[in-house]
Amino acid sequence: MQEFINTIIHGDCIEEMKKISDNSVDLIFADPPYYLQLPKGKRLKRADGSEIIPVDAEWDQFESYEDYDNFTKSWIKECQRILKPTGTFWVIGMYHNIFRVGKIMQDLGFWFLNDVIWVKTDALPNLNGRRFTNNHETIIWSVKDKNSKGYTFNYEFLKKLNGGKQMKDTDWIFGLCRGQERLKDENGIKAHPTQKPLKLIQQILLTASNKGDLILDPFLGSGTTAVVAKALGRNWIGIEKEKKYVDLANDRVKNYGK
Ligand SMILES: C[S@@+](CC[C@H](N)C(=O)[O-])C[C@H]1O[C@@H](n2cnc3c(N)ncnc32)[C@H](O)[C@@H]1O
Repeated sequence: MQEFINTIIHGDCIEEMKKISDNSVDLIFADPPYYLQLPKGKRLKRADGSEIIPVDAEWDQFESYEDYDNFTKSWIKECQRILKPTGTFWVIGMYHNIFRVGKIMQDLGFWFLNDVIWVKTDALPNLNGRRFTNNHETIIWSVKDKNSKGYTFNYEFLKKLNGGKQMKDTDWIFGLCRGQERLKDENGIKAHPTQKPLKLIQQILLTASNKGDLILDPFLGSGTTAVVAKALGRNWIGIEKEKKYVDLANDRVKNYGK
């Protein structure tokens, strides 16, 4: 498994994680498909006329909730096997999927530490005025079972970062990934539909890992977790099934900080 360290594996994470040893990873951050069920090809516009590009990619499509749940259970079981007893597992999702993910995790024996709410300062407005704007995502922070002890929580370091005040809140307030940080293709279109902000992943790694720890992201996408891990001196493994995103993430990791 040494050959996977600080590399991106191109493949299906359920299969690829089977090559990773039991109890070997310090922290897993997973940003899986949300199964948003958006109608394919439907385009919405913002008040200024600009187009909202929905996440209707192939990788977010499932036959049914049962199909989604089977997929979810399979990849989470692998995460549980490879996570160290002292490691922590972070999964992000929205109301579309996070309750299903949470139930599956609890059924598998994971023990929840917190649900962190990423409050988006610039969430897309609710355009039809028939419900509230969905301005947050939920991140479940957990250990692999109830008896897991000795996980990392960098309490003193976070307090220092917070100007000497205890960092105690589970609502983390960050903007969406925009501007310079957002990767674009040659036509100026988002290179990945769901690129997460560096700050969000940085907060997770600073909270629950130390230099030299091994971080895994089974749904690496544009490579955000790899870039943050590299910048913070953590080791990492990324898995991504779409070749175009593997290439994008490899370039991003190589060029980060240059
Ligand atoms: C929500 S995105 C992750 C975005 C990432 N956090 C970022 O900042 O760019 C999910 C990614 O998982 C990939 N994916 C979906 N199913 C997968 C699977 N079974 N194995 C590996 N990757 C998968 C998709 O191609 C997509 O890039």
